[in-house]
Amino acid sequence: MITTIEELRRWSRQQHNSQKRIGFVPTMGALHDGHLSLVKTANQCCDSVLVSIFVNPTQFGVNEDFHQYPRSLEDDLRLLQTVGSPEVFVPNVTEMYQTGFDVSVHVGGVSQPFEGKIRPTHFDGVATVVLKLFLASGADVAFFGQKDFQQVCVVRKMVTDLNVPVEVVVCPIIREPDGLAMSSRNKYLSKPQRSQAVVLSQSLILAEKMILDEKIRDVEIVRKKIRSKIETAPDMKIDYIAIADPKTLHELTIINFDTVILIAAGIGTTRLIDNVIITTTMS
Ligand code: PAF
Repeated sequence: MITTIEELRRWSRQQHNSQKRIGFVPTMGALHDGHLSLVKTANQCCDSVLVSIFVNPTQFGVNEDFHQYPRSLEDDLRLLQTVGSPEVFVPNVTEMYQTGFDVSVHVGGVSQPFEGKIRPTHFDGVATVVLKLFLASGADVAFFGQKDFQQVCVVRKMVTDLNVPVEVVVCPIIREPDGLAMSSRNKYLSKPQRSQAVVLSQSLILAEKMILDEKIRDVEIVRKKIRSKIETAPDMKIDYIAIADPKTLHELTIINFDTVILIAAGIGTTRLIDNVIITTTMS
């Protein structure tokens, strides 16, 4: 396990000196099968795999769950042994943010709507820490889950606009058997909340059917259907149901050839997000 940036740089140089391509999976720990699937994909594509575990304070708002965020390093390290024992980088907060740290990476456009409206400082924190991790690790390829779709858009835009020499690979959402998207925050759900949470993925399946089978193209009809499905869960409070272009995240009025549906809702004190990308033929 590596804990300092200096040590990480040394490890990275050794990999590159031996002509090894570094695959990198950034995480905040509390690992689940979604994270492990990223590591498995990285194992297939790269010669050396690095996983970072760092609960990044700068991406949490003042009233958010930074202090409660699940931390389970020993379990995480055990789980990583089941997927090929990648190298693990576990810095502490002062290693990543030294006294006087005063830089923030702000990505415009795709970081503004949806999560950006509700969590205005979140994506600056994500972009800053991801860039720091990319620079320190010398990653060649980085693996992110589609579950955090807007995060992926922000990271891609940062990589493009700053010419960061890292290839970004997006891996499918991994779901529980009943469809709930895996998330470290699912641990917060009580039993009754957990059984209501399934309406999120069910609402996306309904929307996908409307678009692909019934050929509905009117965004408001699709949104209404999603809303009424989510509202069957009495404790679920919808933050947004966005139907947008997956490249620009501009909201649509008519379903496009490529469309992303992003939903976010709160249940108790937990926020859940989910999404689906739908590709239609032009008929
Ligand atoms: O998706 C996450 O877990 C985090 O946002 C990331 C990318 C590790 C940055 O802290």
